[in-house]
Amino acid sequence: MAAGAAGAAGAGGALRDPAAEKRILCVGLVCLDIISVVEAYPAEDTDTRCLSQRWQRGGNASNSCTVLALLGAPCAFMGSLAPGHAADFVLADLRRRGVDVRHAVLQPGGRMPTSVVIASASRGTRTILHASGNLPDVTARDFERIDLEQFRWIHWEARNAAEQLRMMQRVEEHNRALPPARRIRTSVEVEKPREELLPLLAHGDVVFISKDLAKHFGYRSAPEALRGLRGRVQPGATLICAWAEEGADAMGPGGELLHADACPPETLVDTLGAGDTFNAAVIFALSGGQSLQDALNFGCRIAGRKCGIQGYDGIV
Ligand code: FRU
Repeated sequence: MAAGAAGAAGAGGALRDPAAEKRILCVGLVCLDIISVVEAYPAEDTDTRCLSQRWQRGGNASNSCTVLALLGAPCAFMGSLAPGHAADFVLADLRRRGVDVRHAVLQPGGRMPTSVVIASASRGTRTILHASGNLPDVTARDFERIDLEQFRWIHWEARNAAEQLRMMQRVEEHNRALPPARRIRTSVEVEKPREELLPLLAHGDVVFISKDLAKHFGYRSAPEALRGLRGRVQPGATLICAWAEEGADAMGPGGELLHADACPPETLVDTLGAGDTFNAAVIFALSGGQSLQDALNFGCRIAGRKCGIQGYDGIV
């Protein structure tokens, strides 16, 4: 779409390395989150007064863009939008954050995916009721139109796996012609335990798997999941698994296991999007040349901060 990109590169001084100005692209979901903050999770068939209620832009890839932008990384979002008020709201919010939206695809029809979220203030839980609507995801064809040269990192939130595999293959091909220093680095998040998403584990320099996915495979801890799923990622890839209050673990390209403790806030306020925050912070750190251990620590620190505030303002 010709959605005038807010262009997020920041002030590019003469001394700045042009490679550092390249963007991070996140491909995946943007949706509307209607969040009701309640003192305690309500019983069924009761009438509860909320402490507060708000609209917030949501979706894993879109949330990760918010965090990348707040961390100061030029970033772009690619995902589908349906025409209407909800899309206007999320687009305006992406722009407000300085996220480049020129690769968002406005579909001719359909409904914007929407989540109703019940956030319990006393327990810090978030219960999500998600309506995915009937909006098609962006395709490999949409992705073909993108000039890859402008990106230093591309992240996919696993959704329409067959199309996303083709997008990744395009990047792999693009990279083959380049010296290592100029290659686009890639990552993929497989959060939902859906069989058709699993082939994506075999792609990406960095693979994020969720606690949910690990548990689905019968693993009881992050290190156990990393050892068990290692064979599914490509040689030389990094596998990362965050496990809420247990922190996060990673298996590096050489098979080394690393751990970072969680950094819980004094009071748990809002855990919605904590995983997306962790992913963004890790990508930010790795794309800036930090070590895997430092990136894990940073991811846990920023995700912990996020859990101590409503929304995202104040994570940096
Ligand atoms: C948080 C989130 C919400 C959204 C839901 C979709 O990770 O992206 O913003 O409503 O997950 O599954």
